[in-house]
Amino acid sequence: MADGNSETKSSNQMWGGRFASGPDAIMEEINASIGFDKKLYGQDIRGSIAHATMLAHQGIISAEDKDKIVHGLNTILSEIESGQFEFSRRLEDIHMNIEARLATLIGPAAGRLHTARSRNDQVALDFRLWVKEELQRTEKALTGLIAAFLDRAEEHAETVMPGFTHLQTAQPVTFGHHCMAYVEMIGRDRSRVRHAIEHMDESPIGAAALAGTGFPIDRHMTASALGFAGPTRNSIDTVSDRDFALEFLSIAAIAATHLSRLAEEIVIWSTPQFGFIRLSDAFSTGSSIMPQKKNPDAAELVRAKTGRINGSLIALLTVMKGLPLAYSKDMQEDKEQVFDAAESLELAVAAMTGMVRDMTIRADRMKAAAGSGYSTATDLADWLVREAGLPFRDAHHVTGRAVALAEQKNCDLADLSLEDLQSIHPQITAKVFDVLTVEASVASRTSFGGTAPNEVRKQIAWWRARN
Ligand code: ARG
Repeated sequence: MADGNSETKSSNQMWGGRFASGPDAIMEEINASIGFDKKLYGQDIRGSIAHATMLAHQGIISAEDKDKIVHGLNTILSEIESGQFEFSRRLEDIHMNIEARLATLIGPAAGRLHTARSRNDQVALDFRLWVKEELQRTEKALTGLIAAFLDRAEEHAETVMPGFTHLQTAQPVTFGHHCMAYVEMIGRDRSRVRHAIEHMDESPIGAAALAGTGFPIDRHMTASALGFAGPTRNSIDTVSDRDFALEFLSIAAIAATHLSRLAEEIVIWSTPQFGFIRLSDAFSTGSSIMPQKKNPDAAELVRAKTGRINGSLIALLTVMKGLPLAYSKDMQEDKEQVFDAAESLELAVAAMTGMVRDMTIRADRMKAAAGSGYSTATDLADWLVREAGLPFRDAHHVTGRAVALAEQKNCDLADLSLEDLQSIHPQITAKVFDVLTVEASVASRTSFGGTAPNEVRKQIAWWRARN
């Protein structure tokens, strides 16, 4: 409920002209966004400086007032950054907190800043700038994760592990190849981020409340001062659009989904039963009761953050659906979702980058697992097609019988004797044993994008050239 705000109940000093009394405490509580939108102070001040500079350039306000405004805004910036600024909930949001403080600092000139502007285009600008900067941070973080995977892939281009479908042993692959699958996934996330940055690169400021303004403003000037490619083209859309936030959340949800799949693999791989990896102490925890345990908590939390990020996407989609054009206060609920998802994603990517870099790969365990489960059965079938001229379907059937025999003898395919194999198909020769090892199996998969170590190295080089 209400914090101990000591300010008296008088009508709002920024828009209270037609209101006789101040807001009820509940109204104030539901209406205020300062608790979370204070995060936008830097963007708000930058936007206001660009706006005031343009107003003066266009002769809408005097150069003298502009100078006072810019000086006052810079003072406020340092007050906020040094923790001296007093945020007031009665002033609702970051925009009015800053403007009210500006009035205290520079007097009546402060009142000219809001000429040809509304909080509707102001908040659209501030939030868009914030999301754009967050996307730039995300791009960097994802690049770091890609680099971590590329290094591990290079190191393990020849390390054999079982490849799975249905989490059942399928065919041998290399750990490098598996790492490169994540490079592809995270690489797509990063290109979605880059597209989104381009997509949202238009300045909202100057759309005003919804209809534009009669003042002779220059929206191209503010757009370029704020680093946008240009201004948005429709003032109604500009103040009602939150696609940039939805795009951020969609991208975050897909990226988090990738991280969650990786987290799940790390959890599985680090069990004693799999034993494919050992997590570093830095990214695991012990149990307070079972001394032998080393738990993959960081991976589990990354997996859980995905639920939270997906929730934010659904929350904002639900807020936006059915809103009439243009601005509605519902849209104030956009920020917490995005801030929370951004924080969660940043943490998740950082934790994953650390885990990927630090984990110990247990190549012996991976190799032993790769050879079990008849993982080279397809290689035997392919050999029968190549060397004995069998149609693949027949080769599949012959191989099935070889697997049944091995199962009956409780051994691997490579442990069957030549006589055993010839009893199944007379054309089988000793050369078949060359393809029954896991190394031979992976080395043979030289198709583009396949798991052969040289193919994997080609893909690593392709990504390195694009990092
Ligand atoms: N705090 C508001 C928000 O976050 C700013 C815009 C307010 N606009 C308005 N017409 N009340 O959406």
